[in-house]
Amino acid sequence: MEYILYEVNGAVGTITINREKALNALNSQVLDELNATLDSVDLDTVRCLILTGAGEKSFVAGADIGEMSTLTKAEGEAFGKKGNDVFRKLETFPIPVIAAVNGFALGGGCEISMSCDIRICSDNAVFGQPEVGLGITPGFGGTQRLARLVGAGMAKQMIYTARNIKAAEAYRIGLVNQVVSAEVNEAGETVVSAKDALMAAANKMAAGIAAQAPIAVRNCKKAINEGLQVDMDQAIVIEEKLFGDCFETEDQRAGMGNFLEKDKEKKLKVVPFKNR
Ligand code: CAA
Repeated sequence: MEYILYEVNGAVGTITINREKALNALNSQVLDELNATLDSVDLDTVRCLILTGAGEKSFVAGADIGEMSTLTKAEGEAFGKKGNDVFRKLETFPIPVIAAVNGFALGGGCEISMSCDIRICSDNAVFGQPEVGLGITPGFGGTQRLARLVGAGMAKQMIYTARNIKAAEAYRIGLVNQVVSAEVNEAGETVVSAKDALMAAANKMAAGIAAQAPIAVRNCKKAINEGLQVDMDQAIVIEEKLFGDCFETEDQRAGMGNFLEKDKEKKLKVVPFKNR
């Protein structure tokens, strides 16, 4: 892999888009490598993923403008499909994915963060869909996911004006769940950089997710994602089925047993997924 780093720490896997010289812009190779990395995740042991960009300055500054500049109509559509297929894989990945957004999340960068379950960002993050300024529409799901996340009115304003927004504004409109700042001591010196503080926060959240019953967490993701695509009558049936499935798991017996036995730790055993 030239542009993707993948490391596993306990039950948390971290994928880093590592094309810092181009601010981690997404070309076809990055998309192919990301796709292959997702396929290689060991779902028996990894319970949560973090997706980030290399460096302090940029999460992902969009799809690669150089690569797109000469595309024909058919090639443009195929490039959109390539991005959409990988992003959909991320969105429907069996385990939760947290986007740790360090700096620029523009165009395809904003779009890939929206394919993740949860977004947390550093306070220098900048979000935006600048595509209409380049003569194109958002092409990796931005017209669809932004409207679903922040509402059609705000999404239309961001997309039609191509105006970028800062972390605080992204938090205010519900595009990100949390904004993380660098740690500064009394003398005003930075003791923990914004990127390190962001990754610490992402890892803390991921570890908190990984400590829960893994089948229940997966079923929650499935229920929320699939339920949002259908009307409420169908959605609650999806929930009922996934809720029922949990009663066949060891975690349900252990989790409820801990409560009834007043086990203060209430810890679930860490059993490989395939043995549950
Ligand atoms: N594609 C290709 N290369 C990119 C890139 C992109 N999206 N964004 C940045 N780069 C490259 C620059 O060309 C530059 O390369 P060189 O050093 O070889 O010249 C390098 O990254 C550093 O970038 P800048 O010198 O521009 O850095 P800056 O600090 O002055 O500006 C920035 C940072 C404001 C993010 C600016 O780089 C920028 O505006 N980038 C483009 C953002 C954008 O429009 N993204 C949307 C792309 S379209 C899209 O994503 C379509 C879709 O929905 C699928």
